[in-house]
Amino acid sequence: MKITKILSFLFLVTVLISCGGSEESDGPIIIPPAKVRAAFEMTISPTDQNVLLLDNKTVGTGEFTSEWDYGQGNGFVLDQPGIEEVRFDVDGTFSVTLKVTNEAGVTQDVQTVVVANSAGGICPNGICVTSNAGVLKDVSTTFLVGNITRASKVNSVGIDSEILKTHFSSITSEYEMKMDRMHPSQGTFDFAAADAIVNFGVANGINVHGHALIWHNATPDWVKNFSGTDAEFETMVKNYITTTVTRYKGKVASWDVVNEAIEDGSGNPLRNSVFKQKMGDDYIKKCYQWARDADPDCLLFYNDYNMASSTGKRAAMFKIVDSLGDLIDGVGAQMHINYNFPSKANIQAVADGTVSRGLKLHFAELDVRANPDNDQTSLTSERAGLQKAKFTEVVKIYNSIPLANKYALTVWGVRDNETWLTDFWGHIDWPLMFNEDYSKKPAYDGFLEGLQ
Ligand code: XIL
Repeated sequence: MKITKILSFLFLVTVLISCGGSEESDGPIIIPPAKVRAAFEMTISPTDQNVLLLDNKTVGTGEFTSEWDYGQGNGFVLDQPGIEEVRFDVDGTFSVTLKVTNEAGVTQDVQTVVVANSAGGICPNGICVTSNAGVLKDVSTTFLVGNITRASKVNSVGIDSEILKTHFSSITSEYEMKMDRMHPSQGTFDFAAADAIVNFGVANGINVHGHALIWHNATPDWVKNFSGTDAEFETMVKNYITTTVTRYKGKVASWDVVNEAIEDGSGNPLRNSVFKQKMGDDYIKKCYQWARDADPDCLLFYNDYNMASSTGKRAAMFKIVDSLGDLIDGVGAQMHINYNFPSKANIQAVADGTVSRGLKLHFAELDVRANPDNDQTSLTSERAGLQKAKFTEVVKIYNSIPLANKYALTVWGVRDNETWLTDFWGHIDWPLMFNEDYSKKPAYDGFLEGLQ
């Protein structure tokens, strides 16, 4: 292989020298033009929900021409200076295409527009809802509002599934779509609980976010103590990811492929999980590639905690994300936060870092501890008010990012009495938006206010 490369290099050099001639070789070096990457942003007109504002964001040196196809059957028209205003009066799904041509060739940016006049016109982010003041999922027209669930809740007709259907537009499995549940022993898969959750989402028009394919804390013992070679281990992981993502292709809109791969503390190195040990540092990249191959339309996220509170961890997370290039679509920032911490500026920094990379942002796993120091025995109205304000702050930050970067904001639990934090911290807290009796807390209104 090497010898062939050297030979072809020598051949190339010989050809170049002979082509160059002897005297005329000092001419200008001509750099061939590169293709210009077509890019545009679209927003709904603030004054008319049937009008789309199209902003050609293509940048490039040299001459290029831009043409639009609005997906309404009229073919391409030349881009005009400024923002294009295009009416969409008819219900349906349309592909808006921007085609950019220069000497080197053609590139295109294609985006989808959904129009439902019953929902007011063009649906923000393609999500059509009939506005229902006071209900989170209806008021949130530009991103999904998520919560977690369990098979036992969606399998039974009752208040738990009603709460999801009424208030939320996205669901995440709390623990039944993790490896220890779905791949409990070598050679066997158990998708019963995951199927129930996914089918519930699909049947009720609720988005399903898959969480989480690889997580050190939900790795089954047989994988931790894998008996086989490293190559066999890698084949097993590939088969698990391929099988799982393929099963839910077209039903699960997004997956957290790898969860919490970064160590806390000095230098924030990669966690020394069994995956890193057996597959090397690029185990993460391999996992994303397998997920991508299994369902190219699925959005792939990297999910981790302390993204706002630790600048070091945030930097380590963005380093991983950058190394994944096109294999990743978004960042999942777990929002396990306190009523008074981290600061607004640090939460904003997570959003800014994600937006500047052109990635989608999932504010995942939001819960706001009202009793981090365990000095309260009940939720006082003062703490409930401060907690509400933190909910508003988080939602406002999320709601202010550009449409193209939005995806979902997921709350980690419905009722306070069910929060995972009680076990995790070993004492009582009230971090969610509903009381044990399913009544709404001020935190719910805080979320709503963040949407204003
Ligand atoms: C937690 C669940 O809430 C618990 O029920 C389960 O026992 C352990 O996992 N970060 C994550 C989530 O990514 O998957 C965790 O969920 C909470 C921390």
